[in-house]
Amino acid sequence: MVIFGGAGDLAQKKLLPTIYLLFKKGFIKEFSILGFGLPQMSDSEYRENIKKWLSENIKESLDQKTFSQFIENIFYLSNDLKDPKSYSQLCKKITDLTNDDESINLIYYFAVPPNIFTTIVDNLSDKNLCRQRKNAKVVIEKPFGHNKKTAHELNLKLLEAFDEKQIYRIDHYLGKETVQNVFFFRFGNALFEPLWNRNFIDHIQITVFEDIGIENRGFFYESASIIGDIVQNHIMQLIALIAMEPPPNFDADSIRNERLKVLKSIQPIEDKSIVLAQYEEGFLNNKKVCSYLDEKNVDKNSNTPTFFAGKFFIDNWRWANVPFYVRAGKRLKKRFTEVSIHFKFPPLKLLGHKCKDIEQNQIVFSIFPKQKIELKFNVKYPGMENIPYLVDMMFDYKEVFNIEYPLAYERILIDTMKSDITLFATQKGIEAMWSNVDPIVEFSKKLNSIKKYPSGSIGPEEAVNLIEKDNRKWRDV
Ligand code: BG6
Repeated sequence: MVIFGGAGDLAQKKLLPTIYLLFKKGFIKEFSILGFGLPQMSDSEYRENIKKWLSENIKESLDQKTFSQFIENIFYLSNDLKDPKSYSQLCKKITDLTNDDESINLIYYFAVPPNIFTTIVDNLSDKNLCRQRKNAKVVIEKPFGHNKKTAHELNLKLLEAFDEKQIYRIDHYLGKETVQNVFFFRFGNALFEPLWNRNFIDHIQITVFEDIGIENRGFFYESASIIGDIVQNHIMQLIALIAMEPPPNFDADSIRNERLKVLKSIQPIEDKSIVLAQYEEGFLNNKKVCSYLDEKNVDKNSNTPTFFAGKFFIDNWRWANVPFYVRAGKRLKKRFTEVSIHFKFPPLKLLGHKCKDIEQNQIVFSIFPKQKIELKFNVKYPGMENIPYLVDMMFDYKEVFNIEYPLAYERILIDTMKSDITLFATQKGIEAMWSNVDPIVEFSKKLNSIKKYPSGSIGPEEAVNLIEKDNRKWRDV
């Protein structure tokens, strides 16, 4: 694996720690990693740094024996990624590390800012290291373009050099166990699928709340905002999973096609269904935190949204008129991610005036902090009176399995190595996702000023109004 940006943030925090864990667990045995980046370092300096990064970014302490076996497979090449001469050295290094065996799996991981993607592709292509290598793959992180047009251009560029099946467009949300379980829950049970449509479902809620701010990603956030960071990818993929039709087969093409159909059926969101806002200073865990405008590398007059709430509709037979309410943001009350399906009220007011107390049946997929699935239904509260009461049946991963399951990046990297492309986005998928969020980007550009919400809150009041004016309520965070 060649990691472009081998000494960057993503390599330090996610990629190298994940590869170490996969090695330790025995998922990978024979491998070489070549970090390729600008900072000047020898192999041994790189290895020393990796030791530090691992201890900062994995929970357990380093196992010395495993670490020394792991680290001897890691090398570094420092060079300017824009300089064609660097790629001659890269080519030579790849030949050495693979013993000139072209059948060996080769993964290029682009852990670099997107403005350099095409330069890397051009240079790899000049050296016949793309389509010409049957077993080469390229892994691309977001942001994949910054609107539909630029995403399309980037896709064309990649497709000049690689075949579609060599391109792995990552969305790590799809690698989460809990997210994959939406698929298994829906299509592995006969019980729920008959109800999974507009005849029985009233609405759907998706919440992706984080308490962290933008951390050191001022430049990235100023260009991506919450829209490019979370909505265009993670939220769109969640909607696709909840709303897709059963695929004819459990294979990558069938599943990705069904996800795509949903993404293409999402109606253009109306301006009145969009809420954008930005965090002000506030308190989180009793600690004062700064406003977005005071973060590093952020324009002092920036209108960049760090919060989004919106209402989407899917224009197809199954989902017509069922609202999908979505909210996502940074620096909110707590880290909290879930998807909930809210069913219609029972048709018969059998419980008389008490009926107004009845709550809707719900199926809740909790992704964070708990990993669980709940089914909520009404029972009689014990006593002389007839009082309906909402209770739940729950499946909790920890309680039932009590095993450590792979982190999203572990799954995604293993799938890349196995050439299983199911959990990755297609060219058309990426473009469809952008089509759905381009109106939000346009809306944000028209704002003269942006609404604010205090850090540590649940976002702006307008997000609450968005759902309450439809006589519905967000689930508690
Ligand atoms: C990333 C976003 O894709 O997902 C981050 O860029 C966000 O801003 C992160 O914090 C959240 O992912 P997870 O797996 O930590 O919930």
